[in-house]
Amino acid sequence: MLNVVVLVSGGGTNLQAIIDAVDSGVITNTKIAGVISNNKNAYALERAEKHGIPNQCISPKDYESREIFNQEFMKAVDALQPDLIVLAGFLVVIPAEMIAKYRNRMINIHPSLIPAFCGTGFYGLKVHEKALERGVKVVGATVHFVDEGTDTGPIILQKAVEVEQGDTPEVLQRRVMEQAEWKILPHAIDLIANGKVTVKDGKISAIDVTSASGETASYFSKAKGIIPKMISGQTTNVDAASGATYSSNGIITAVRN
Ligand code: GAR
Repeated sequence: MLNVVVLVSGGGTNLQAIIDAVDSGVITNTKIAGVISNNKNAYALERAEKHGIPNQCISPKDYESREIFNQEFMKAVDALQPDLIVLAGFLVVIPAEMIAKYRNRMINIHPSLIPAFCGTGFYGLKVHEKALERGVKVVGATVHFVDEGTDTGPIILQKAVEVEQGDTPEVLQRRVMEQAEWKILPHAIDLIANGKVTVKDGKISAIDVTSASGETASYFSKAKGIIPKMISGQTTNVDAASGATYSSNGIITAVRN
């Protein structure tokens, strides 16, 4: 049984997706041991409370220095004995000591197709504002292991989402959550819980594509409207509606005009 600790800062819709997936059996072999927020007003804490999940707030504001906060924060996380830490919209910098201790045992959901629209300053709604400013046609979300950089760790799953005419950052954010984040985050936890993700040399070297829920890790092969086609002698996954093309591991390779 994988003991999972979820770290949150805000509304907690990703936490809710995890709770629902555990309840419905989409995530197997997993227990949510606790939820920690840096923000006492985070609705995520209420979501945890409603489901009887131990929850607490540990805020940097309540400590004299960042060092003391980091120590208390790490103590609280360690006390829950996590096998996996999930950053589900957690907006606090993780102490280096904790990253080292939980290497390849801490994952993050980011609301873009990394390496686009990620790194320092790219979080929450800002990511979607920047994507619309740039005029990209395809956005998405990424689940990755956490390393010392910002959004630089090994990528586990990605899922693409189309930008639509007239999108506002809020509308796009919601679509990315619904179509990508709330699916790939639970799926990644289920894959890890069942020993199906292996990291080697900073990359996912093996991912057993069939999760306990019967979904495949490569969403593109099963996603509606996305079909493999031969392009320049290579098999490419093509979205029938948009013409966007993806490589076999889900990375966007081209978009038809
Ligand atoms: C989510 O969109 C998540 O991807 C993003 O914050 C939001 C939290 O929403 N995370 C980041 O931007 C991290 N760089 P939630 O509290 O409703 O799950």
